[in-house]
Amino acid sequence: MAGAALLIIFSLIVISVRSYADTRLDLVARSCETTTVLNKDDYLKNYESILQKMEPEMYRNKFAFNEAGKPPDKIYVLSQCMNDLSSVECAQCFARISNILPACFPTTGGRVYLDGCFIRANNYSFYREVTANGDINRCSDDVDTNEDFKMVLRDMLPRMVRKAPDKKGFALFQESRNGTTVHGMAQCWKILDKEMCSSCLADAVDLVFRCVPSKEGRALNAGCFLRYSTYDFGHDANASAVRYAIISFIIYIFLTAVVCTLAVAIGLRLGKMAYKQMNPRREWKGKEVDLAALDQAMKFLQFKFSTLEKATDCFNEANKLGSGGYV
Ligand SMILES: *[C@@H]1O[C@H](CO)[C@@H](O)[C@H](O)[C@H]1NC(C)=O
Ligand SMILES: *[C@@H]1O[C@H](CO)[C@@H](O)[C@H](O)[C@H]1NC(C)=O
Repeated sequence: MAGAALLIIFSLIVISVRSYADTRLDLVARSCETTTVLNKDDYLKNYESILQKMEPEMYRNKFAFNEAGKPPDKIYVLSQCMNDLSSVECAQCFARISNILPACFPTTGGRVYLDGCFIRANNYSFYREVTANGDINRCSDDVDTNEDFKMVLRDMLPRMVRKAPDKKGFALFQESRNGTTVHGMAQCWKILDKEMCSSCLADAVDLVFRCVPSKEGRALNAGCFLRYSTYDFGHDANASAVRYAIISFIIYIFLTAVVCTLAVAIGLRLGKMAYKQMNPRREWKGKEVDLAALDQAMKFLQFKFSTLEKATDCFNEANKLGSGGYV
């Protein structure tokens, strides 16, 4: 009974860690190339080995690119997370998006956009492409015909194009007018320099303006991603790190309490058995404990306490290692 209750509480904590915000793992668009590689197996194998190299880099830098193989089947892969994702969120996004792209094979590759990250693969070096055929926008069906909404967009989007290139290619915006709030995000791939980023975002703003009066619009360019929405989709990477730290601390306290309770329960039980063995003819009755017997039991418990301490301390270290991964 108690075990089931504890399990439920623990599951709730784990769920709250996962669903505290929009995870931004939704598929926005996928487009595949049209020409086919000569050796599909080698191409796929090289893709897999590149992913393994990119994984730790994505976690660290939220950006990675790599290539492998020989032309014409040499494969180039580039991936980028939006800068407001935490390292953990970026790793999750990369795990998902890198699994969606292979549906394009045996063509030479393609592009996939999720709300949190981007990946592209092809058999030539496209790394520094700013715009390309296949750049598109995605507009929501629901619209806001309010004039204030258009005014905010007309004001905010060009400011994002000016700001983002100076802020390492990333900007998160929020602007209100007469009670209408619009959120915006711009992200250039880190491989582009400032001028390339500017020109990519200028193109993206043109694309996304065609979405107005949609409540939400996205521009999907070869070198950048731009999004506006009446809905607040941005993550505060610092706040989420603090939240992870707090939640993992709660889990730590909770699990320690469980281990201690179990250890004490087991200790008491063993103490009771030991007492019974020492006094085989007497029935154990909680209320009739004589002082000598209690003293015996206490000694036994004290002896066992060092074991208990060791157990929880060992747990302590293990959990510290675990929580380190969250932040
Ligand atoms: C990419 O693959 C296509 C189809 O196999 C091939 O025609 C083209 O030459 C390749 N590109 C490069 C740069 O090798
Ligand atoms: C707010 O709306 C009113 C009329 O609806 C308009 O006259 C006013 O200029 C607006 N204010 C701003 C800051 O746009």
